[in-house]
Amino acid sequence: MSNGKVFADIADKYDRINRILSFGQDQKWRQRAVNHLPSGTLLDLGGGTGAANEIFARFDVVALDPSSEMLSLNSEPRRVVAIGERLPFVDGAFDAVFSAYVVRNLDSLDSTLAEVHRILRPGGRAAIVDLGRPKAPAAARLHRLGSRVVLPAVGALAGARDEYVYLNRSLDKLPPPEVMYADTPLRQVDLWRMGPLGFVYGVVLEKE
Ligand SMILES: C[S@@+](CC[C@H](N)C(=O)[O-])C[C@H]1O[C@@H](n2cnc3c(N)ncnc32)[C@H](O)[C@@H]1O
Repeated sequence: MSNGKVFADIADKYDRINRILSFGQDQKWRQRAVNHLPSGTLLDLGGGTGAANEIFARFDVVALDPSSEMLSLNSEPRRVVAIGERLPFVDGAFDAVFSAYVVRNLDSLDSTLAEVHRILRPGGRAAIVDLGRPKAPAAARLHRLGSRVVLPAVGALAGARDEYVYLNRSLDKLPPPEVMYADTPLRQVDLWRMGPLGFVYGVVLEKE
């Protein structure tokens, strides 16, 4: 199943299931990352249905996503269908970039971070939130076991079993964030873990 099809298929159920799976914490995890961003123009990279819109009051937002189905449910007036790996904006156009629960779905994190670096102004910041596995190997094993059972079951209840099998597999796709963001074109300002066993992370990067 391609990632484009996953989000086209679950667009209408996405927000509800996401809230259930995160025990209602998904917005709190987004908010903690948004708090690190300077006010002004903000690109919501992979903004989807606009789940974060309510915490963007101090920003002038452009929502970008490759899925027109997800974007059609997004209430932001400025919406752009595009991918993170090729951003249709001029250099230095944004004060801030925010991206929540998107990184696992990218074809290339390196190309996307190069593009984020290009479109940020000097001193601008990117804040990223995503899911992965806990840092400690024993906790990661426990989490892998639990999510293999829980995610397809919740997906089946919501009529989207295959999509949530895909979600479970995606949690093992990338290296831990401590490795992934160690060497990027942007300076790392902060990186933290959140959620049960620390399977959620936030990272803040700055353009020098
Ligand atoms: C799990 S949803 C997250 C949506 C939203 N950011 C949120 O916080 O609820 C992942 C989103 O990433 C988008 N996406 C997938 N591939 C992408 C890419 N290459 N560039 C940008 N967004 C992408 C999907 O279409 C989907 O809307």
